[in-house]
Amino acid sequence: MQNLINYIKENENNYIEELKEFLRIPSISTLPENKDDINKAADFVSEKLKQAGISRVEVFQTEGHPIVYGEWLGAPGKPTVLIYGHYDVQPVDPIELWDNPPFDPVVKDGKIYARGATDDKGQMFMHVKSVEAYFKTFGSLPLNVKFLIEGEEEIGSESLEKFINNNTDLLKCDSVLISDTALYGPGIPTLTYGLRGLCYMEVEVIGPNRDLHSGTFGGGVANPINILAGIISKLQDKNGKITIPHFYDDVLKLSKKEREDFKALKFSEKKFADSVGVVELKGEKGFSTLERIWARPTLDCNGIFGGFTGAGAKTVLPSKATAKISMRLVPEQNPKKIAKLFENYVKSLAPKSVKIAVKNLHGAYPVLTPLKGSATVAATKAMEKAFGKKIVYMREGGSVPIVTVFTKKLKAPVVLMGLGLNTENLHSPNEHFNLKHFQLGIISSAYFMQEYSGS
Ligand code: BES
Ligand code: MN
Ligand code: MN
Repeated sequence: MQNLINYIKENENNYIEELKEFLRIPSISTLPENKDDINKAADFVSEKLKQAGISRVEVFQTEGHPIVYGEWLGAPGKPTVLIYGHYDVQPVDPIELWDNPPFDPVVKDGKIYARGATDDKGQMFMHVKSVEAYFKTFGSLPLNVKFLIEGEEEIGSESLEKFINNNTDLLKCDSVLISDTALYGPGIPTLTYGLRGLCYMEVEVIGPNRDLHSGTFGGGVANPINILAGIISKLQDKNGKITIPHFYDDVLKLSKKEREDFKALKFSEKKFADSVGVVELKGEKGFSTLERIWARPTLDCNGIFGGFTGAGAKTVLPSKATAKISMRLVPEQNPKKIAKLFENYVKSLAPKSVKIAVKNLHGAYPVLTPLKGSATVAATKAMEKAFGKKIVYMREGGSVPIVTVFTKKLKAPVVLMGLGLNTENLHSPNEHFNLKHFQLGIISSAYFMQEYSGS
């Protein structure tokens, strides 16, 4: 194994150059104008898998964005791990807040800066490179490997869900390994065992048939923005509880043991507040910040628009107002059920003076993975070896929509071995990835293959 680790360390610069090439492709999944780049990114992944030694690589077209599949099944009798990741990235706006152009990666202070650096190109690429290093050092892998890399994670993984449902034989595996989450802190080996789910809604309040003069009509006709703001303010009470009837019915309570485990992590609320530049934290009464973020559901307005938003003043009574509202869910909440409860409640809050339209944009089921099982044990040992420190188990507030499809359809346990940091600006300007963690991730991935193969 030492030769393999040395090989990885010696090739650090090559890996960074290749990652830069990957990061130069603006594969933003949500924007139609980036469709060519999406295809380029899929081809890039496919080429890199072939170069790494993966014998069968295929790019599957879908109704949405292509799926890259690769397999090397040269270790009969050994377990099969399926490695999942995504090559799509989030939009870059607000672009003016980036210190460097988002698709022109630069290395500064041991970090690589670009959209997708940590979410998820950099993390996904670690596994491609560990497989390559294994082939280069030993001529083969100690176990069977399948790669499944998609381009729609940031928009809900719709095509991938269909693909998995139609290809359960092709994708058959003993476990799924994903690096698309974070470490508890810099240099701390971490496995994530919980993700929150998501229910993303759009609410449109429709008033008069056109924008009106707020002097001649104001006071006599309902203002959709005022109404919408009123509705939003009623969705949570003063204790931070969500007021939608039956919202909490299926919420799994935190066990005493888990609350103690969270406490033992010595999370600094002060540092957390400082890191985001607020004087005081806020959230559901009766819960710590880690509990609120990892194990309690939330409701947040992501965006609100309508009326006049340009510079200066314009007196107008707008005809419409829209809000994008998302709820993070926790086990055992069901995003479809929550969407219905939300819709009913919001409609019940609207006065007759306006019309209201509610849309469910997308969702994800919450996840709890078992901490037992050979794949988790292997991942724990692998990370502890790579980092030379004891593992930390944590939950996560974010979502990876496809995870429950793996557990339900492929009946395979999922291991969340993320190497990112939540301070690495994923989805915001100046996204970056710590290159020390990039290397430790490649090494952890190599150790995982060794440990999980039982050799
Ligand atoms: N990799 C993230 C999820 C994540 C975020 C894990 C932070 C750990 C820490 C993923 O790419 C993501 O952004 N998911 C979306 C899902 C949504 C667009 C369906 C999310 O959580 O908002
Ligand atoms: Mn991601
Ligand atoms: Mn993301």
